[in-house]
Amino acid sequence: MASSTQRNSPAPYGGAGPARKVTPRRLQEMRDAGEKIVMLTAYDAVFAGLAGQAGVDAVLVGDSLGMVCQGRDSTVPVTMDDMVYHTQSVARGLADSPSLLLSDLPFGSYHGGQDDAMRNAVRLMQAGAQMVKLEGGGWTAPLVRFLVERGVPVCAHLGLTPQTVHALSGYRVQGRDDDGAARLERHARELADAGATLLVLEMVPAALSARITAALPACHTIGIGAGAGTAGQVLVMHDMLGASLGKTPRFVKNFLAGSGGVREAFEAYARAVREGSFPDDALHAW
Ligand code: KIV
Repeated sequence: MASSTQRNSPAPYGGAGPARKVTPRRLQEMRDAGEKIVMLTAYDAVFAGLAGQAGVDAVLVGDSLGMVCQGRDSTVPVTMDDMVYHTQSVARGLADSPSLLLSDLPFGSYHGGQDDAMRNAVRLMQAGAQMVKLEGGGWTAPLVRFLVERGVPVCAHLGLTPQTVHALSGYRVQGRDDDGAARLERHARELADAGATLLVLEMVPAALSARITAALPACHTIGIGAGAGTAGQVLVMHDMLGASLGKTPRFVKNFLAGSGGVREAFEAYARAVREGSFPDDALHAW
């Protein structure tokens, strides 16, 4: 029997994506040209393939899969085996796509030090990732440097770092006061100096993330609930499709509403980020 992909798509997992393979060099070219970087999460082959077809620049296998795929209440229980399984699926979906594939190192997989970080980054790269993402401030900078020197491109993640939700006492905006903002700016500089290619800024005031972005010409900020002044944007796929069992955060927009289908919703998202209509700081930022 034909799979749903075979029935519905004339060019499964391929088609009209971005023209050139998205690499760290290409990301720098985009930044220099003032083009926004479009990132979206995906966890399986079909949705990843549709994101590639829609021209999404970077597909993130986020450990948010713990919440949206596994029904957990945080990302903390997600394991390396989970990440490898979903990365392999997404890599198959993106086989013919120029999109960059990056995967999260989950909680506990890099906290033991450099050897831990390297061993688990290798597992993700062997599963098909071209970049790994890890969360946290200054303490992760030596790990980032260690991985980058050994050929692993890294995306850092500051602001609301969901793996430390328990230490942060919940999902709340970070960097609101002067001390918090100064700390975030310092950590961002340290991670950029360590060689991070990308830096996710999650739930950070728009003015702060714009300041961090301007200060880091070779480390490209990707915002989620961080305003329009970042070098790119990311959303959790389920959120932007309106597929949520609870309340969606203020920074999310439902791109499926009014679209002809999932691929069209991904295209609408990519278009809105590139033309600067999403996020609208009056609606989606702090
Ligand atoms: O796990 C994830 O999906 C993420 C994004 C929210 C950036 O880290």
